[in-house]
Amino acid sequence: MPDLTTMPAESKTGQQQGTMGGGETPERLLVTDTRTGKEYQLPISDGTIKSMDLRQIKVSDQDFGLMGYDPAFMNTASCRSKVTFIDGDKGILRYRGYPIDQLAESSSYLEVAYLLMHGELPSSAAMKEWERNITFHTMLHENIKKFMDSFNYDAHPMGMLVSTVGALSTFYPDARDVHNAEARMLQIFRLIGKMPTIAAYCYRHRRGLPYVYPENDLSYTGNFLSMIYKMAEPKYQIDPVLERALDVLFILHADHEQNCSTNVMRSIGSSFADPFVAMAGAAAALYGPLHGGANEEVLLMLNEIGSKDKVGEFIKHVKNGERRLMGFGHRVYKNYDPRAKIIKQTADQVFELTGRNKLLDIALELEHIALEDEYFVKRRLYPNVDFYSGIIYQAMGFPTDAFTVLFAIARTSGWLAQWQEMLMDADQKIARPRQVYLGYDERYYVPRDKRP
Ligand code: CMC
Repeated sequence: MPDLTTMPAESKTGQQQGTMGGGETPERLLVTDTRTGKEYQLPISDGTIKSMDLRQIKVSDQDFGLMGYDPAFMNTASCRSKVTFIDGDKGILRYRGYPIDQLAESSSYLEVAYLLMHGELPSSAAMKEWERNITFHTMLHENIKKFMDSFNYDAHPMGMLVSTVGALSTFYPDARDVHNAEARMLQIFRLIGKMPTIAAYCYRHRRGLPYVYPENDLSYTGNFLSMIYKMAEPKYQIDPVLERALDVLFILHADHEQNCSTNVMRSIGSSFADPFVAMAGAAAALYGPLHGGANEEVLLMLNEIGSKDKVGEFIKHVKNGERRLMGFGHRVYKNYDPRAKIIKQTADQVFELTGRNKLLDIALELEHIALEDEYFVKRRLYPNVDFYSGIIYQAMGFPTDAFTVLFAIARTSGWLAQWQEMLMDADQKIARPRQVYLGYDERYYVPRDKRP
């Protein structure tokens, strides 16, 4: 157990915000191995020790050496990153140093995508070129349309999205050139550009509606809304409030450092697989109900509860361990998720236009009870990003099973920024954890007729 008294104050709470410059540090962790009585000094850098430094700690020359055991990466930093900073205790989220509330207030999703990818906010000229490049890659190959046609009428949109993103790999063999910066950037344009089109096609396929082609004169979210909702009219009239609200939701979902799906993106990418298949894997991880699939689960839960007066009863089931309060709790945030705060404000703007979603009252009651209840207070469980996002998406007319697809569109820029950073990082190698083997020692094969 590290002696916390010797560590820098900041590393005692939340995530260590490293200097990123590395550099020599005089700080050491003194370890005594009680098996051998030997002492070791392990260098501390950016609030971490290197797990590989543990390997020198052995009981004999034949011993493999000490390893850390950390299922689910509860306390393991898998990389050094400059993309996103979270302090879970304080409820802070920053992309490249910019607080999430400032970005949600003043930026746009595409500008945030540029920021995540390049590390700096773009100049006007750089932004224009970035938007142009992404807009020019919104079209899907007609064979992808045919590919999507083959899904069942009731296929889950996330299943369709995951398969279609993976299938894009077969259309762009140049994507395998992951060490070529220019080729990488082309795939980044393609993926950010095409995700809304794939998502819209998933939606239209479910409804048996003809696919709507992208329109280059529209904004990123405006074009998406047009591909979703356009019917026979020559030009879909986009409501600026909904267009902006969706853009804000996309900003809030754009990145979240080393979450489950981003870890998958980096892990698949570490074998130098192309970004289309890596992103299909990341999106598959997002689909799960404990991750991005939670927004869909929240809506199902609120519908199941049905009315405000049933909330108390539901909370009892949660406290008995029979149910989980979906949209609550987070591995990193032990305080109010800053994204959930902004989403609540966005909800008010959307409801002014669409009328109040009746599920909001149930959600507010759940939050009210949970924030005061000892079970939740003791475990530091607060609403997360998924608690309110579904209520807004529903008010905007999206079906429940499309919610995670919306999350995936937004997270594309984060996945790709983290993938690029991983490829550029000299410390990184193919991701390959160790295990503690607890199975049988060697034993002899027994022929079938001799087995008990
Ligand atoms: N409802 C009831 N109890 C909970 C909840 C919840 N939502 N979340 C955690 N707990 C309890 C859990 O049972 C455990 O209690 P105990 O100590 O008595 O065993 C304690 O709190 C710690 O929970 P944990 O499962 O060990 O925490 P974790 O860090 O492994 O899990 C989580 C984090 C997000 C998976 C979990 O909080 C959860 O399942 N939440 C509901 C699903 C959800 O909303 N997911 C979206 C996360 S945010 C967006 C995203 O990542 O995509």
